[in-house]
Amino acid sequence: MSPHESGPAAGQANHPGDALENLSHEDRRFPPSPEFAAQAVATAEDYAEAAADRPAFWARQARELLTWSKDFTQTLDWSNPPFASWFGDGQLNAAYNALDRHVENGLGDRVAIHFEGEPGDTRSYTYAELTREVKKAANAFESLGIRKGDRVAVYLPMIPEAVITLLACARIGAVHSVVFGGFSADALRSRIDDAEAKLVVTSDGTYRRGKPSALKPAVDEALAKEGHNVGSVIVVKRNGEPVEWTEGRDLWWDDTVGTASPEHTAVGHDAEHPLFILYTSGTTGKPKGILHTTGGFLTQAAYTHKAVFDLHPESDVFWCTADVGWVTGHTYVAYAPLINGATQLMYEGTPDSPHQGRWWELIEKYKVSILYTAPTAIRTFMKWGREIPAKYDLGSLRVLGSVGEPINPEAWMWYREVIGGNGGKRQDRTPIVDTWWQTETGAHMIAPLPGVTEAKPGSAQVPLPGIAVDVVDELGESVPNGSGGYLVIREPWPAMLRGIWGDPDRYRDTYWSRFDNMYFAGDGAKKDEDGDVWLLGRVDDVMNVSGHRLSTTEIESALVSHPSVAEAAVVGAADETTGQAVVAFVILRGSAAEDADIVTTLRNHVGKEIGPIAKPKNILVVPELPKTRSGKIMRRLLKDVAEGRDAGDATTLADNTVMTQIAASLRK
Ligand code: WT7
Repeated sequence: MSPHESGPAAGQANHPGDALENLSHEDRRFPPSPEFAAQAVATAEDYAEAAADRPAFWARQARELLTWSKDFTQTLDWSNPPFASWFGDGQLNAAYNALDRHVENGLGDRVAIHFEGEPGDTRSYTYAELTREVKKAANAFESLGIRKGDRVAVYLPMIPEAVITLLACARIGAVHSVVFGGFSADALRSRIDDAEAKLVVTSDGTYRRGKPSALKPAVDEALAKEGHNVGSVIVVKRNGEPVEWTEGRDLWWDDTVGTASPEHTAVGHDAEHPLFILYTSGTTGKPKGILHTTGGFLTQAAYTHKAVFDLHPESDVFWCTADVGWVTGHTYVAYAPLINGATQLMYEGTPDSPHQGRWWELIEKYKVSILYTAPTAIRTFMKWGREIPAKYDLGSLRVLGSVGEPINPEAWMWYREVIGGNGGKRQDRTPIVDTWWQTETGAHMIAPLPGVTEAKPGSAQVPLPGIAVDVVDELGESVPNGSGGYLVIREPWPAMLRGIWGDPDRYRDTYWSRFDNMYFAGDGAKKDEDGDVWLLGRVDDVMNVSGHRLSTTEIESALVSHPSVAEAAVVGAADETTGQAVVAFVILRGSAAEDADIVTTLRNHVGKEIGPIAKPKNILVVPELPKTRSGKIMRRLLKDVAEGRDAGDATTLADNTVMTQIAASLRK
């Protein structure tokens, strides 16, 4: 389905945004309290300053928030779009900025990370301690032959070693490529191959809902077949479960990092030196390796973390609940909080282990003041009931963040009243910041500024200072207030992706060819009467399940790779809790329909090909798929079926009886 076919400008009735808007309407506005505004980091002047001279605004942030080993003379080089260079002749070291300089500035005893494991074990690292660990890891990686520019694959749970590994890579100029632990061995292997990684850092496993859960077997399986460049696998002992061992390749973290020297001098790397690759789903079957570089990424990460969360590093305790396997866990766990010298909480497990109040218990225990999470989590807590958070003292909270998908107004209000309002124990007073951004944008792009912006429940509202966002129509013309269209970014921004690893053409085609000289985000959006931006969900073949990005095409490819499947079509159907859910329609081959377990078999097959997170919630066996005369599957009609509606306009179908056939087969 092309954006043309499915875009909001085309007036399609089943766009995800429509479901969102139908859910509720909330006209209340929440201006910042005078007390909050008086102490706020962000000011309204930031907008004016950035509007007057965008590069100068970012240059000021770069110099104020980061320490450069060599200052830059040129802020932005956009002479060869869409390839940008920010702070091009400057040099800096990301790990030095996150660690050493804070120790040198007398903050060595400040806690950098409070870690709480799912079973309840705890560890805290001061900045001095974390610096020492990162230096040891940097030495260990170097002793294994990892050099500047080499790629390191990271397949770890949410444990401090994940952050230590990322920063150790950054320190020596190695490029980390984190693969989320919920991805399968096959998915891990394809990412290892694409990046030509030389080292894998993993763990025996982790804990999930009170039970040990394994990771190392997936690494073993991924590396079983020859043809990769991985020479070493470092294994963190986390759950103590027995693991297979390949002599000469596998090394325990404690035996390598644990015994390495804690002395290591950080040298500056070029501002445009690659910092990391992170794979994300696109509209085709093959995930894209999104490339981020050092100076611009860190500048925008640090600025947004400070301004959007109103960070006061000397007193705040920041908790971003995202896994380090996603971009949110890169920017707002591994980098920004440490660059800004903040104290953060890191939690390994699920919100319902051992009980449904675990998060609130953690907030009370660590006096978390800034919470950053996803709407899907908030909706889950709503379902569990407000009496659960009400049992805890949430009085330390003062800013609440949301990310990953549009937040529906009810969830927004619940978040503000029940969580921000400390279970109703006080008047709600906690600003909510709904932050729109993407793996590709590297850091926040659209968000209210707490203390400045009057908040509207359900809207990310305004582009940040120094960010040029617009909503345009099919032809790329800016739409007037009150209208919808496609979200674009008109000017380069510091944390923008620098490309797709190894595929410059795909970078240009995917993001810069839909509209001239504009970055096309893949999202639909509208401007309200005030010109504030409301995000309406993806307009391409990308689904958003619990804030995780999944590609319909990738799951379809996984399904048809099974011998029993002749054809498959996947849609993201509206789901009350997860935002969208994966629903697959399959046509089976030959006798496969007689196999009573076929649906389970296919779900597991997708789990093996991509990962458990991609398993369809429903698989519907159908006799036909609705196709246009040119052979394109009309997912829009399938979405109607998946969401329990009568199928919409089917007049462009090659065979107009198909929808009746599907309906009849599903009734059976
Ligand atoms: C897509 C990017 C950015 C970190 C997490 C996801 C959707 C993200 C919002 C928001 C509405 C949002 C968009 C975007 N999205 N944040 N606040 N409101 N939609 O990163 O996996 O790269 O996915 O997530 O559709 O394009 P990602």
